[in-house]
Amino acid sequence: MNRITLTRPDDWHLHLRDGDILRSIVGFTAARFGRAVIMPNLKPPVTTTSLAVEYRKRVVAALPAGCSFEPLMTLYLTDNTPAAEVDRAVASGVVCGIKYYPAGATTNADCGVTTLERTFAVLERMEELGLVLQVHGEVTDDGVDVFDRERVFIERHLSRIVARYPALRVVLEHVTTREGVQFVDSQPGTVAATITPQHLLLNRNALFVGGIRPHHYCLPVLKREGDRLALLEAATSGSQKYFLGTDSAPHARGDKESACGCAGVFSAPAAIELYAEAFDQAGALDRLQAFASHHGADFYRLARNSGSISLVRDPWRPAASYPFGDRDIVPFFAAEAIGWRLDNPGNP
Ligand code: DOR
Ligand code: ZN
Repeated sequence: MNRITLTRPDDWHLHLRDGDILRSIVGFTAARFGRAVIMPNLKPPVTTTSLAVEYRKRVVAALPAGCSFEPLMTLYLTDNTPAAEVDRAVASGVVCGIKYYPAGATTNADCGVTTLERTFAVLERMEELGLVLQVHGEVTDDGVDVFDRERVFIERHLSRIVARYPALRVVLEHVTTREGVQFVDSQPGTVAATITPQHLLLNRNALFVGGIRPHHYCLPVLKREGDRLALLEAATSGSQKYFLGTDSAPHARGDKESACGCAGVFSAPAAIELYAEAFDQAGALDRLQAFASHHGADFYRLARNSGSISLVRDPWRPAASYPFGDRDIVPFFAAEAIGWRLDNPGNP
């Protein structure tokens, strides 16, 4: 098989930032995907529906001319989010979910949730109105090893959320562990997960090949080979619980190549191509369309996209860096060969 055509895919987890940076990067995603779920961890975070509506306008204004691309907005959950915000979010028609960051878990998560109980009124209203909860599933406890933080979050928090709100639809974002996959598999259809390209393609050894590799650092951090294989099996299994979410999270080169480098892998310039690479390695290219273009839309109860994109087996290399506002950024697989190339971008 040297060419594959897919229903135009969607990215169910994406960071676009704002301002000049947003304008530098949004075209990469819009060329490949019909829609994307836009994360709310701006500074300050997108905590209200009115902030999300304004942010959405800035995303649309930043799109290359003639582009059809739909940003699906999210709100940033805090200890103080009122339940009435859920009503406003649903009424807006542009908010697809609310993002739960444990306070301090990752980039711009300082305003996140400190105490699960404080979110109960919001979760209850989300369950009633059918709004999706998107979870960054890691505890922040210093006493918990960084490689165990997803498993412990599931044990301490996520299992309580899904037991208490059985009709709430929950996405365990960027699942990274075998235990995470086992948990999602054990739950009813209300519980799903996104999987990133870096967690499908790399294990934690990649962080230390010949020296420390800041461009492979993201949160949740890369895990063991056994975890990677469990993710690959889940993504290629055909299970409707798993769908594409890149977690492309851009940071300027200088903020990554630093004594205290930021977490985030910038995969947007080659996102669908990287998934094709992973599925190809697993001998499962025939399962890529369902993972990339069907399962997420079905879970979010949105129509599948009508257009298509094609990929051809024709190795290419992402640039060593791309412009990023007035700085530059190093993409995932910078100057490294990827076997699949986008043939007919869905947008200019
Ligand atoms: O690596 C990450 N980067 N993980 C996250 O959860 C947030 C993201 C970011 O916003 O940079
Ligand atoms: Zn993210």
